[in-house]
Amino acid sequence: MNRISAIMLGLSLANITAAHAVDTAKLAIQEELPVGKAAGDYPAPPGWDKLPEGEFGEKVVRGYNYFVNTQSLSPEFVGNGLNCVNCHMDGGKKENAAPLWAAYMSYPAYRKKNDRINSYEERIQGCFLYSMNGTPPEHMNPVLVDLSAYAYWLAQGTLTGEQFDPASMTIPSDEDLLKGGKRDDFPFTQAYLATGGSAELKTPGRGYPKLSEPEQAPDIARGKQVYEQECAVCHGANGEGQKVNDRYVFPPLWGPDTYNWGAGMQRVNTAAYFIHQNMPLGQPEKLTEQQAWDVAMFLDTHERPQDPRNQGSLEDTTEKFHGGFSQYGKEVNGSVLGTASYPNHPNKP
Ligand code: HEC
Ligand code: HEC
Repeated sequence: MNRISAIMLGLSLANITAAHAVDTAKLAIQEELPVGKAAGDYPAPPGWDKLPEGEFGEKVVRGYNYFVNTQSLSPEFVGNGLNCVNCHMDGGKKENAAPLWAAYMSYPAYRKKNDRINSYEERIQGCFLYSMNGTPPEHMNPVLVDLSAYAYWLAQGTLTGEQFDPASMTIPSDEDLLKGGKRDDFPFTQAYLATGGSAELKTPGRGYPKLSEPEQAPDIARGKQVYEQECAVCHGANGEGQKVNDRYVFPPLWGPDTYNWGAGMQRVNTAAYFIHQNMPLGQPEKLTEQQAWDVAMFLDTHERPQDPRNQGSLEDTTEKFHGGFSQYGKEVNGSVLGTASYPNHPNKP
C-alpha cells in the first residue's frame, strides 16, 4: 500500500469504536462453530444505501443474488432445491443464523472436517458440496469471488458501524478477497489496528447459540409430535417442502432435494441450535430446548443424499466422518441410515 492511501485509510477508519473489534489472534481450532449464548445486542449490517459504486459494487450485488437465488447456478454447481439464504437467513445478515459478516472475519481457520487451514473460499466450497449437495466452483471462479465480495462488504460495514463510508473502502484483489479477513496482513485489519482497534474478536451472533445438553435424550417420537404441530404446515407432512411455479417457497428438510449427509445441519446438535433460534419461521425460541433437540433428532433420522465422502463403505464413512450427534450409520426403524441415501448432484449438466 502506498503512503497516501495508507493515510486516507487511516483517516476513514479513525472513528471506529473499540466495541467493533477485529480478531488477529492465530488460527483457532473449530470443527463446529464456536458458539456462545445469545447476546441480545448485535451490530447492524449495512443497508443498500452503503453500496460502493463501480465494479466492486457490481460484484457485491451479484454475490447477493447468488446467495438468495443459488438455484440460478443449478445444474452446474447446485444439486438440490436449496438456496444459501434458506439457512443463512435475511440475506446472510441475521445474527444466530451463521451470519456472513461474522464468518468473513473468521477465516482463514483450521477445520477438523478436512484437517487443514481453510480460506473463506474453501469454506464456501464446502457449503456447495454438502449443504447444496452440488459440485463446488473451482478456485477463483467468479461465483466464489462475488460471494466473497458480498461477505466482505457486509463484514466491513458491520464492524465499522455507522461510520462506514463505502467510498473509502479498501478494495482487495480477487485473490485477497477469497482468503477471508482473519489475517494480520489483511488491509482492513492492518489499518484498523493502526488506528487503535482492539485485537480481541467481537462478533456476537456468529454461528448459532449453543444449547445445554438435553435433559432427556433426544427422542424421535416426541420430535415427530413437535414436527406435526409446528413445522409440517410449511415444510410438508413428509419434509418435502412446498413449491410454487416449480420453485421451493418452503425448503425440504429431508429426501432427495435437500442437504446431504456431509452437511453441518445433519448433526442433531447443529440442527437443534439452528431451530431453537430460527424456527418456526419468525418465532425464535418458541420451542423449548428439549423440543428443539427432539425435532432435530426427528429430521436427522430421515434419509437424504449420500455423504459425498462415501467411497462405497458405509462403515468406513461412519467411522471416519461421523460420530457425536450424527445419526448416519445408526439403525432406525429397522434400517441403517445412509444405506438408502439419494445420489449426489443428480442434475449435473
Ligand atoms: C442446509 C443449510 C445450509 C445451506 C443451504 C448453506 N449453509 Fe452455509 N452453513 C450451514 C451450517 C449449519 C453452517 C455451520 C457449520 C457447521 O457447524 O458445520 C454453515 C456455515 C457456513 C459458513 C461459515 C460460517 C462461520 O461463521 O464460520 C459460510 C461462510 C457459509 N456457510 C456459506 C454458505 C454459502 C455461500 C451457501 C450457499 C452456496 C451456504 N452456506 C448454504 C448451513 C447451510
Ligand atoms: C411459517 C412457515 C415455517 C414453519 C412453521 C417452519 N419453517 Fe422452517 N423454514 C421456513 C422457511 C421459509 C425457510 C427458509 C428460510 C429463508 O429462506 O429465509 C425454512 C428453513 C428451515 C430449515 C433450513 C433449510 C432446510 O431446508 O433445511 C430448517 C432445518 C427448518 N426450516 C426446520 C424447521 C422446523 C424443525 C420447524 C418446526 C419447529 C420449522 N422449520 C417450521 C418456513 C417455516
